[in-house]
Amino acid sequence: MTTHKNTKYIFANWKMYVDFSESVMLAKQLAKKSKQFSANLSLAVFPSALSFTAVREEFAKTKVAVGAQNTHWVARGGLTGEISSEMFAGVGATYTLVGHSERRHMFHETDHEVRQKVEAALASHLTPVVCVGETAAERAAEKTEEIIEVQLRAAFDGIAWQKDKPIIVTYEPVWAISKGTEPGSGTPCDPDDAEMMHKRIDRFIRGLHSDVEPILLYGGSVRPHNAQFYVAQPHINGVLIGAASTKLDSLLEIIANVGA
Ligand code: PGA
Repeated sequence: MTTHKNTKYIFANWKMYVDFSESVMLAKQLAKKSKQFSANLSLAVFPSALSFTAVREEFAKTKVAVGAQNTHWVARGGLTGEISSEMFAGVGATYTLVGHSERRHMFHETDHEVRQKVEAALASHLTPVVCVGETAAERAAEKTEEIIEVQLRAAFDGIAWQKDKPIIVTYEPVWAISKGTEPGSGTPCDPDDAEMMHKRIDRFIRGLHSDVEPILLYGGSVRPHNAQFYVAQPHINGVLIGAASTKLDSLLEIIANVGA
C-alpha cells in the first residue's frame, strides 16, 4: 500500500499559458530552487507537449517529476495531432492528467474516453491524475455528488490496479477554475466545502479499491494566499495549480506557504 501521510503534493499544470522558451526558463529557475525543497514535497510539472522533453531535461537531476497534460489511449497509429501515453512514458513522463475539465468541456471528452486513457496510462506505467468536478449548473441543481460518482466510477470501477501505484484524483469544480492568469479571474471553492467533497471521494475510491490509499488534490484558483487552507484539510493531500504555477514567484510562495 502506498503511504503518503506526510507528503504534500504540488502539481503545476502550465496548460497553454507559457510558450517553449518561457517553459524552459521557468523549469531552469525551478530546478535551481528545488535543492532547497523539503523531502516531504512531491512536486510535478505538466508542461505543453511541445516543451515536454526540454523541461524534462531541466529537471533530470532533480526530484521534480514531469507529466503530460493529455495522452491518447492508442499506443501508435494514424491519429493526427495526438500523442500516446506510451510515447510520453518513453521520454520520461511520470504522470498524465486525465479528464481535466477543459478537456471534458472544451474538447468534449467523455467518461468512456477518460477510462480508456486511464487504462492506457497504467499499461504504459504512467500514473494517471484523474480530474473530476461539477459545473456551476450541476452544483446549483444539487447534482454535485452524483456527477462526481459517475466520473469516478467510469475511471476506476473494476479496473485492475497495481498495488504500488497510487490512485490520484483531483477535485476541480469547473466553476472554480481560473479563466486566465489575471488576478481575480477565478472563484476558489471554500476549503471546507472542498474538504467535504474530498472526504466523499476518499470513501468512494476506498469502496472501489479497498487496498489502495487514494491521494486527493484540490484544484481551482489556488493562489499563494489560499493554498495552505486546502492542504490543511484532513482529506486533501495537495493542490493542482494552473495560472498561479506559471509564475516562479507565486509557485515558490505556494510551496513555502503549504510548508513543503
Ligand atoms: P487554475 O487551474 O489554478 O488556473 O484555476 C487549475 C486547473 O485547471 O488545473
